[in-house]
Amino acid sequence: MSKVKTIFVCSQCGYESLKWAGKCPHCNNWNSFEETESYPDSRRTQATFSQSEPLLLSEHTEISKTRILTEIGEFDRVLGGGIFQASVSLVAGDPGIGKSTLLLQMAGRLIKKNIPVLYVSAEESFWQIKARSRRLGVDTLALPLLVETDVENILNQIDQMQPQVVIIDSIQAIYSPEVSGAPGNISQVRECSSRLFRAAKEKGWSLLLVGHITKEGGIAGPKILEHMVDVVIYFEGDSFYQYRILRSLKNRFGSAHEIGLFIMDKDGLKEVDNPSNLFVSTTSGNTPGSAIVCSFEGSRPILAEIQALVSRSSYGTPQRTVSGFDQKKLALLLAIMEKHCGLNLSFSDVFVKVAGGLKIDDPGIDVGISAAVYSSFADRPLNNKAVYIGELGLNGEIRSVSHLERRVEEALKLGYNLIYIPRLETPVKSFQANSRIKILRHISDLIQISTPVHKKQKEGIR
Ligand code: TYD
Ligand code: MG
Repeated sequence: MSKVKTIFVCSQCGYESLKWAGKCPHCNNWNSFEETESYPDSRRTQATFSQSEPLLLSEHTEISKTRILTEIGEFDRVLGGGIFQASVSLVAGDPGIGKSTLLLQMAGRLIKKNIPVLYVSAEESFWQIKARSRRLGVDTLALPLLVETDVENILNQIDQMQPQVVIIDSIQAIYSPEVSGAPGNISQVRECSSRLFRAAKEKGWSLLLVGHITKEGGIAGPKILEHMVDVVIYFEGDSFYQYRILRSLKNRFGSAHEIGLFIMDKDGLKEVDNPSNLFVSTTSGNTPGSAIVCSFEGSRPILAEIQALVSRSSYGTPQRTVSGFDQKKLALLLAIMEKHCGLNLSFSDVFVKVAGGLKIDDPGIDVGISAAVYSSFADRPLNNKAVYIGELGLNGEIRSVSHLERRVEEALKLGYNLIYIPRLETPVKSFQANSRIKILRHISDLIQISTPVHKKQKEGIR
């Protein structure tokens, strides 16, 4: 009998090597090699589209692909307008965040629309899913549920049933008998996903995979999984908060970086129609250290509250603690404020957070963070009807941000009557006539507007 050949595969980039190595020579990740059986089939994974000869796009007579709306608006938007026919999407997230709940709810909506869907559970029993379906109000009589872990059986059932949408919960829990190793290991995930992908693309059904994530926050399994799928969506949130965010990281059919917002309720996930109301309360902005910002997430603006606390440091090295954005951003903004506004923060601890547990990467909140820090430093509340929009440059200049008009509109719509914006390269007509919109050119202007006149006279600020 011929000996089974084993190879070592980097779980991060898929690099193959005959010998184990501590560090991957291709992607430089440490400790990422896993032993696996070499199997020749892997090269065929993406080969289903390959044509034997080149064709002009205009010669291609393929019928136009359709999208299936899940009728969960937030999910549809993140998917880029529904589930694309014959597409493969990966929904990844922490355990207990609500992946199974979301997909079960989606299955329920599709059934109502008479779209044949198959829910394959490899993690939970029939009874568990039945109980959850009842809780979510999914029609349990009409939901085809398959509790199965063997990918061959799953594919057989799909062939018999011919659904339009297949949900596999989860890719790490199914296995192929042709490959050795426990479910979830790199060769199993690679083999199972490639077989499912091929079938989905050939037969034209859409596949939604649930994926686990690792301790570090990456998707468990080979990195190649993320390259192969059409859509990668992260479901994130904090167990201390009720809201959940769907965030698309890759989307071949729509905009990446789109987000969808939900609240996890006792009877399932509810869509959030007005996200700004979720993160800003009526009392936001009343106390020193609080500033309202307008971030742009995906295709829409979201108002959020930044809270800062500047206090005298009891230790030699002052602390800088951040929650909701990058720690390095705070260090940079403090350095700019020290340099250009003459603030001395070297004996102060600075704590800053985005209220509500929201995570924001948008540079448009820089000015708001600086305003919150200054407000706490000076122990003076800012105007609680003000919204701060703008990115801070290294020279203290306030720079323009994307989608400025949409951000301003959102702030005005929610009743804020003082919107600070950066200087504009091209004037916007609606802004010029509006006395509620004020331009900030430099970080020192922020100090000016945040200081009452009598304080300015007392402290010698002009
Ligand atoms: P689940 O969908 O099982 O998470 P995942 O598949 O990502 O592991 O969600 C489990 C959590 O959601 C669990 O802590 C209970 C909570 N939950 C609700 O709060 N309300 C509900 O209606 C449901 C179904 C779950
Ligand atoms: Mg689950």
